[in-house]
Amino acid sequence: MRSADRRAQTYPALFNLYRLELLPKGTHIVGYARTKMDKPEFHEKISAHFKDADSGEGAKAKKAFLDICTYQPGAYDKDEAFQELNSAMEKIEKEGGSKNPNRLFYMALPPNVFTVVAAGLKKNCYSEKGHNRIVIEKPFGKDLESSREMMGKLKDLWKEEETFRECQGALRLCGGAMQRAELAADAPRCTGIDHYLGKEMVKNLLVMRFGNPVVDAGLNNKMVDNVQITFKEPFGTEGRGGYFDEFGIIRDIQQNHLSQVLSLLAMEQPKSFSAEDIRSEKVNVLKDVAAIKKEDVLIGQYSAADGKPGYKDDDTVPKDSNCPTFAALTLWVNNARWSGVPFILKAGKALDEAKVEIRIQYKDIETGPFKGLPRNELVMRIQPNEAVYFKVNAKTPGLHMGTLPADLDLTYKERFEDARIPEAYEALILDALNGDHSQFVRDDELDYAWKIFTPILKSIDAGEIKNELYKYGSRGPASLNEFQTRYGYVRDNTY
Ligand code: BG6
Repeated sequence: MRSADRRAQTYPALFNLYRLELLPKGTHIVGYARTKMDKPEFHEKISAHFKDADSGEGAKAKKAFLDICTYQPGAYDKDEAFQELNSAMEKIEKEGGSKNPNRLFYMALPPNVFTVVAAGLKKNCYSEKGHNRIVIEKPFGKDLESSREMMGKLKDLWKEEETFRECQGALRLCGGAMQRAELAADAPRCTGIDHYLGKEMVKNLLVMRFGNPVVDAGLNNKMVDNVQITFKEPFGTEGRGGYFDEFGIIRDIQQNHLSQVLSLLAMEQPKSFSAEDIRSEKVNVLKDVAAIKKEDVLIGQYSAADGKPGYKDDDTVPKDSNCPTFAALTLWVNNARWSGVPFILKAGKALDEAKVEIRIQYKDIETGPFKGLPRNELVMRIQPNEAVYFKVNAKTPGLHMGTLPADLDLTYKERFEDARIPEAYEALILDALNGDHSQFVRDDELDYAWKIFTPILKSIDAGEIKNELYKYGSRGPASLNEFQTRYGYVRDNTY
């Protein structure tokens, strides 16, 4: 089930998994949406973003992959349409010779049709012989209440937890064999996909922290002055204005992607790497985060500059929109490890560069001969050009006793030249197929994340906080520097 814009990521991910022979044998993929199109049109659409598939082996693989992709147009709210989908799947399963076909339903849909589709699938497309899984894409509601309502309805509909924990034999994205997956008896069945959890550097957080005691030992309020988690995109909402205006940057990025990163960065060590242990520790951190206060917020909206359109130049955006396309929010984790350390979650569209990173600034040296040296910083660059680097002070080489700033640098493409960094969706779809919930969002995580953001979102929706305009292609609103400085961030850290 797809709404248009995610096709650019999921089908290429499926194609890559296919090429790596990681899709279960006999898998068949059925696209389902309202748009009427024939098979060639569908194939053209889904393969538009395939990489390295125009000639040779790539082209061969593409042809073979497209052979297992079919399309079924249909409504989101009609039993007959889902029954037709079911018949199409049954036909494919029969032809594939599978006796216990399993089905994975992947829903990337607007929230207003989400529960109706989940109900239609449960009623008409549920495989009685095999196992069924459902993966959902954000937005998971608009606030705490709507998220709870949506999750509640989903739980009522898809209550057969055993379909997740007793996966035997074959699973299908409509068909095929896969390994058995074991889940704890109390594992929640309802899981959401947050593609940031599939990113290599986000997955690396657990290893960087708990695989390196020296790193983790420095992550606390004795050592750290402030933490910034930044998401910057150099393009606006072009073509998505209508959708975006309903949600805004905080629901689009901070409430999910950046708060997931925060919880992995701030949580205590899980007892094990099991899905439930990891997610319980993430929940423990989110529980300790206070709801965001008005004074800890800076929001902005981009205006036209250098021939680029302003946010409101999009015809689908209301002319009086107060929707933020930029936000800097300071969160406080009120526990023994982090109390007093500001976590600035900063995200914006139409900015000066593409960058997602975590930047931890350590405290200044307060006394002694090295007082006044630049601060240490630990940076984890999530994208582009994945890297972890630690900014240190070193002795100036030579006879003179001076210092200079330097980096201990782990840039992936230099250190791991031949390594292929998988796309986030590849990692997550594979986990869903294998029944591994650890990189998916549990419903209580969602609940706690919404608790942190809902009050401030309501204030913004009510127009109580005004956007500051910033130019397309700039760093964001002019008062950003002052905002960051207020929380101790040193921009010009001489590095
Ligand atoms: C999506 C947001 O979840 O993430 C988009 O809805 C954003 O607005 C996208 O562009 C960014 O994802 P990535 O993987 O390109 O950083």
